Amino acid sequence: MSYLLVVDIGSSQIKAVIAEISDNGRIVTRGLGSARSGGLKQGVVIEIDSVVEALKRAVYAANQMAGTKLSDPLVSVGGSHLVGQDISATVMLNHREVTDVLVTQAMEQVQIQAQMPDREILSVIPRSFTLDEQTGLRSPQGMSGNQLLAHVHVITGASYVIQNLKKCLKLAGLEAAVLVPSALAVSQLVSADERELGVCVADIGMGTTDIMVVTEGSPVWMQVVPMGGELLTHDLAIALKTPLGDAEHLKVQYGYAHTTFAPPDQTAQVKKIADRPAEDIRLQQLTAFIQPRIEEFAEILGERLRLSGRFEKASTGIVLCGGTAALPGISQVFESVLQYPCRVLKQAHQGGLDGLLQDPANAVVAGLLAYGRDQEVRPQPHWLGAQGSMFNRVRHWIQGNF
Ligand SMILES: Nc1ncnc2c1ncn2[C@@H]1O[C@H](COP(=O)(O)OP(=O)(O)OP(=O)(O)O)[C@@H](O)[C@H]1O
Ligand SMILES: [Mg+2]
Repeated sequence: MSYLLVVDIGSSQIKAVIAEISDNGRIVTRGLGSARSGGLKQGVVIEIDSVVEALKRAVYAANQMAGTKLSDPLVSVGGSHLVGQDISATVMLNHREVTDVLVTQAMEQVQIQAQMPDREILSVIPRSFTLDEQTGLRSPQGMSGNQLLAHVHVITGASYVIQNLKKCLKLAGLEAAVLVPSALAVSQLVSADERELGVCVADIGMGTTDIMVVTEGSPVWMQVVPMGGELLTHDLAIALKTPLGDAEHLKVQYGYAHTTFAPPDQTAQVKKIADRPAEDIRLQQLTAFIQPRIEEFAEILGERLRLSGRFEKASTGIVLCGGTAALPGISQVFESVLQYPCRVLKQAHQGGLDGLLQDPANAVVAGLLAYGRDQEVRPQPHWLGAQGSMFNRVRHWIQGNF
């Protein structure tokens, strides 16, 4: 049994969750903490002090509730500075047998190829291997051949953004953190069949939408687009001449993704800017200001997928999550715009996460728990994470935290 601390650094909130991972891999949530920060914009730190404060508060609350003192979390990274790219590297075998050492050599070669000025490697995820003419191998170890080709997905981030994030974590006493791209975390929550046959996950948060396409069990494409729920709130505030806080409340309490879902006979009260008298608005009218933006989000997602050439890889459909996916009717709007199957993530194929996923804004913390759990259950060789052996870290979690 071990305990795992995960932290989602989102633009609207920093969330910390502590879960107990039983020996058979069951996840039981033991501690929750959250704090608003205001120090982030579109997933990127813009004010260190307030992010540090919020990190401390969220992690402290989760530790208090769980009765733990964990300080080595898995932490999400977001923002449109993240880039995912496919890289292949070759190792000559000269008819030797493939060993862990040779596979490691191939992965090191990949990391050398992925290095770029002003960028940091965050994740190195092997997709498959080709041994001479044999393609699509998952574990080539023990097989013989002449030439081994490793196909790998590498996610990098802008160095200055990563450095600022690491600085915040250090000042909050969390310097042992391992960074995981948000989309990679969320992609752990869809079913094994979806991951194998192909799926797109889209986490629509407050400032960003993190998109990832996974097929044959591994990521093939990732992009973070600067669009999210704050645009809907701005649209409402301008259209209704109401303060931003009230627009946010109206959207969350009374908003729908499409006017056909809004009850025709209900109204909500709108406070006005500059002490003007409040007015009532029909929910259908309110939703009429939200719907075009949701349709635009769907169009942009479709356009990005088409431009990437990976739309057809997401053959089982699109899975939506993130706080904005809580808007009733959003999957139907996406489905109608994209003419493609879409659903909102409400359950995970791993046990123990459905409680968290009642709120789609918890997808990243749930995904981080699944990611951390799987690294422990299926220990991976050291080249899987650019930041050192996850398995050794997990052993630390087990040994060092009580
Ligand atoms: N019921 C709801 N209906 C509509 N929007 C909602 C609802 N609940 C939350 N939201 C919106 O979801 C957004 C927050 O979602 P989330 O917590 O996923 O974002 P984040 O992770 O903090 O931000 P980001 O990922 O962009 O950095 C806010 O814009 C909020 O208004
Ligand atoms: Mg988020």
